[in-house]
Amino acid sequence: MNSLLNQANEILNQVNASSTDHLRPKFHITPPSGLLNDPNGFIEFDGQYHLFFQWHPFACTHGSKFWAHCTSQDLVNWDFKPTALAPDASYDKNGCYSGSAFVLGDELHLFYTGNLKDEAGERVSTQCLAKSVDAELEIYSKIGPVIHSQPQGYTAHFRDPKIWQHDGRWYCVLGAQTEALTGQVLLYSSSDAYQWNYHGPIAGEGINGLTDFGYMFECPDLFPLDGQDVLIGCPQGIKPDGFDFHNRHNNGYFVGELDYNLSQYSHGEFHPLDRGFEFYAPQTTLGKDGRRLLSAWIGIPDEDEQPTVEHDWIHALSLVRSLHLVDGRVHQRPVEEHKALRGAKSEWAAQILSSEQALTFSSENCFELSLKAEEINGLFSLRLAEAGDHFVEISFDSATGIFKLDRSHALHQDGSRESTLAYTDRLELQIFFDCSILEVFVNNGEEVFTGRVFPQQLVSNSTVSISNSCIIKELIRYDY
Ligand code: FRU
Repeated sequence: MNSLLNQANEILNQVNASSTDHLRPKFHITPPSGLLNDPNGFIEFDGQYHLFFQWHPFACTHGSKFWAHCTSQDLVNWDFKPTALAPDASYDKNGCYSGSAFVLGDELHLFYTGNLKDEAGERVSTQCLAKSVDAELEIYSKIGPVIHSQPQGYTAHFRDPKIWQHDGRWYCVLGAQTEALTGQVLLYSSSDAYQWNYHGPIAGEGINGLTDFGYMFECPDLFPLDGQDVLIGCPQGIKPDGFDFHNRHNNGYFVGELDYNLSQYSHGEFHPLDRGFEFYAPQTTLGKDGRRLLSAWIGIPDEDEQPTVEHDWIHALSLVRSLHLVDGRVHQRPVEEHKALRGAKSEWAAQILSSEQALTFSSENCFELSLKAEEINGLFSLRLAEAGDHFVEISFDSATGIFKLDRSHALHQDGSRESTLAYTDRLELQIFFDCSILEVFVNNGEEVFTGRVFPQQLVSNSTVSISNSCIIKELIRYDY
C-alpha cells in the first residue's frame, strides 16, 4: 500500500507548471498542488533555513494536514524537500497541525499538534514531537504526544505550540479556548523539551483587563524584540475597531514583558500586525545574524474560494520579513536578501508633479516598485491596471494622514483597508506584485498591507499610474 507520505511525495515530484496559470506567483512559496496554510517550524540550523507549512496535498480544501518542508540558504530561494509529516499516526490522523521546530544536539525536532477526531467524532488535541533521523534533516520519525491533553477548564481547541529557550530552560506558548468559549494563550516550560509543566494563561480574555477578545486564540508566538517581549497571534472572533480587525479572522500583537518567575505577561494594547486582506498565522524565528524573521500565510481560515483552484492549488506564504520595534510598535520590512532577486531596473528622474499630472508606465505582472514622495498636498493615488482598467488603488490623503488600499475593482474581491500614518506630508512605498499577490510596505515597514488580487489574464503591460501633487523623490521599478 502506498503510504500517505509517499502519496504526498509523488504530488511533490509531479511538475506542475501549467503555462495557462498566470496567477501562480514567481517568488512566493505556493503548494505544488492542494492547499497551503500556516508556516510551521521556521528555524535556522547550521546555516540553513527550514520552513515547513501546513499542507493538504490532495485537494484545495482543509483536510488532514501534512507538513511540507522547504529549505533555503538565503531566505529567498527555497527548495522543496520530501514531505516531513503525514497524518498517519493514531493520535494525528486528522491532521499534523501547526507547530514549531527546535534543535537538540544534531537533530531537528518538530513540535506540533496531533489533531484527532475520536470515535464519537469529538476533537482530541495532543502536542507531539518528531525528530530528524538523517544527516540531511529530510526524514522525520514521530516520537508521539508529550502534552497529552489540555489543562482543566479548557476545550480541545488547544494547539500550535511555539517553543523557545530562555536561560537554559525550554518554554512554549499554546493557543487555547476556555470552557466559557474565550481565547487565551497558555504558557508551559520544560528542562528537556519532552516533559512539560503547565504554568497557566498569560494572555487573552480576562487577563490584563482584556475583554471581548474572541472565542479562540490561534498560533501564538512570543519572542524578545529590541528589549521587549512581543506576543503575536490570531484571536478569532474579535470585532472590528475603527480601521482595525476587518478581516473574517485577524492577526496582531502585544508588546510587553514576560516575567519568567511569576509566569505573567504584562502588555499594552493589541495592534494589527499586517493590515491587508489575507494574512494569518505568522511565525517568527531568530536569523543567523540575530534578526527576528517572520513568515505568514497569505490566506485566512474559511476563505478558500479563489480562482487558482482551477489550477489545483490555493494560497501562499508571505515574503520573509524582519521585525523591528519602533516607538513601541512592530515594524516589518522585507529581508535585504530579497534584493538578490531583482532583475532589470527602471528608474525615473526626481520630479515635481502637479495635481493634474499623471505619471504612467507599463509593467510586467511581477515587479517591485519603490517610491518616495514628499510635500504631498491633497490626495495621492497610485493605480495598478490591466487593459486600462485599474484593479488596485493605493491612496493617501495628506489632509487626514489616511492611507488606503482598495481592491474593490479586482476580480472576485471587494473592499478596502485603511490606516492612519504617522506623517501626513510624505510617503514611502515598497510594493511587491507577484502575479496575484500584493505586499505593500508603507514608510519602511510602519504598516504592511498584504492581499491577493486576481488579474483576469496574463498581464504583459499593466499600467502603474501615479497622480497627485507632490515631489517624487524616487521611483524605481525592478522586474522579477
Ligand atoms: C490556523 C490553524 C491552526 C491549526 C492549523 C490547521 O490557520 O487553524 O490553529 O493548527 O490551522 O491547519
